Amino acid sequence: MDVLGAAAGLEREGRSIIHLEVGEPGSPAPRLVREAAAAALLQGRIGYTEALGRPALRARIARHYAESYGVEVDPARIVVTTGSSGGFVLSFLALFDAGARVAVSAPGYPAYVNIFQALGIEPVMIETDEASRFVVTAEMIEAEHHRRKLDGVLLMSPANPSGTMMSDVQLQAVCDCCERLGIAFVSDEIYHGLTYERDAASALQFSSRAVIVNSFSKYYCMTGWRIGWLVVPDELVRPIERLQQNLSISVPYLSQIGAEVAFDAREELEAVKQSYARNRAVLLRELPKMGITKFHPVDGAFYVYCDIGHLTNDSVSFCRRLLEEAGVAVTPGLDFDRARGQHMMRLSFAGSEADVAEGVMRLAGFLGA
Ligand SMILES: Cc1ncc(COP(=O)(O)O)c(C=O)c1O
Repeated sequence: MDVLGAAAGLEREGRSIIHLEVGEPGSPAPRLVREAAAAALLQGRIGYTEALGRPALRARIARHYAESYGVEVDPARIVVTTGSSGGFVLSFLALFDAGARVAVSAPGYPAYVNIFQALGIEPVMIETDEASRFVVTAEMIEAEHHRRKLDGVLLMSPANPSGTMMSDVQLQAVCDCCERLGIAFVSDEIYHGLTYERDAASALQFSSRAVIVNSFSKYYCMTGWRIGWLVVPDELVRPIERLQQNLSISVPYLSQIGAEVAFDAREELEAVKQSYARNRAVLLRELPKMGITKFHPVDGAFYVYCDIGHLTNDSVSFCRRLLEEAGVAVTPGLDFDRARGQHMMRLSFAGSEADVAEGVMRLAGFLGA
């Protein structure tokens, strides 16, 4: 966000800035979504909905699991949320008491730790490395739990900032391990749909105890609509319903109307994904030519998390210089990994193909490559 602020400042001075820092799609919500919401807007009353979400949307999300993963899920277990961010707050409040210890990966999405701290939950960082292809494994969870008892684990696949995915076997092992240890498993599946080598499995395929967090923000290009969903075990439905009733009453009506048809906009969304795939190919081809050869496996999402240790041990200053001197905004790794992020940076390829190509050219010029 600070990078975004600095970039906006330079743009106000008339500088041209290429944005490789933003974690959101450059494309608008699908046409179908915008049309459905516009029609509902013109029709009249925009009211509260059921706290768990409109029944038609919950049923449509359940159908998505049958169609995309071959899993039958009762729509009663689906909760519509204000983005996955809203889903985190609801599920963490329902699952954990203050003082709970919940493991997350490093590097990882910074808001996890910040939300935990706001709720009095203790984050337990599990560092990933090349040995496990940069994912948290069941063995690591088990070892951490035996060092000091955990209450839960929160993981994502594909991940932010790395884009790296767990294998299906690894995900199943994590589900089994958490069930065996009697601890909660929250699976953030927000980047599902955005995978380049193989489809991502859902924890729902392996466990009816796992809490699934998902969103319309990324694959469906609906960040500003603030809508997502949870799939929760039966006994969490009622507590989460009560939390939602009190914390936000319901998710915005128009966003729910739009989300219901988002699943039918496959063709448009796949075209957007194809442009990410081309951007990804450009980066994977060009970065090594500039001497940036170490990055995490870019299996999904729209990020490349690169090691720039041969260039700097202060990624914040490096990214500031890259912005000021070359007009390229990227995110320093310190945001994602407080211990090791000083020699990492994250490039996002969610923007247009022209922007990514220009960003690559400027980066090469900056590095003298
Ligand atoms: C891994 C991950 N989870 C959750 C979110 C939050 O997304 P939203 O609240 O828009 O669904 C993000 C946003 O970048 C993310 O990267």
